[in-house]
Amino acid sequence: MTVIPIASVCARTVHAPEAAVTTARAVAAAADAWHLIGALDRCFDGNDCLGVTIESVKVGLFHVNGEIHALDDICTHGNALLSEGFLDGHEIECPLHAGLVDVRTGEGTTAPIVRATRRHEVRIDNGNLYVRLSR
Ligand code: FES
Repeated sequence: MTVIPIASVCARTVHAPEAAVTTARAVAAAADAWHLIGALDRCFDGNDCLGVTIESVKVGLFHVNGEIHALDDICTHGNALLSEGFLDGHEIECPLHAGLVDVRTGEGTTAPIVRATRRHEVRIDNGNLYVRLSR
């Protein structure tokens, strides 16, 4: 099993509890690479975004109105972590140049972001949050 380290957390949120980090494990069933992030209620702990690293891929997780969305965490415009931005509704504001990305689609909604951000699948099973990387 592989522990998935928390990479970063939204600036306006509180860091996820250490217990959630230490319990985050990759459940790499060979053909079905869903990665366990942790218990949903402990991962976010009332926060709205979270950064994790899965198989060397930085993934931003965004909690909006009871739904979780997963995107590549690196902004397509530059080298900034979207999970360190500010989430307003369904849009995350990049902390570097303030471009906006719709976390539901990965599409940039304002300049300077012109390329979409890759999305990843999210599953909640028995209260646990899983992510499957898009290839
Ligand atoms: S690095 Fe994200 S908008 Fe420029």
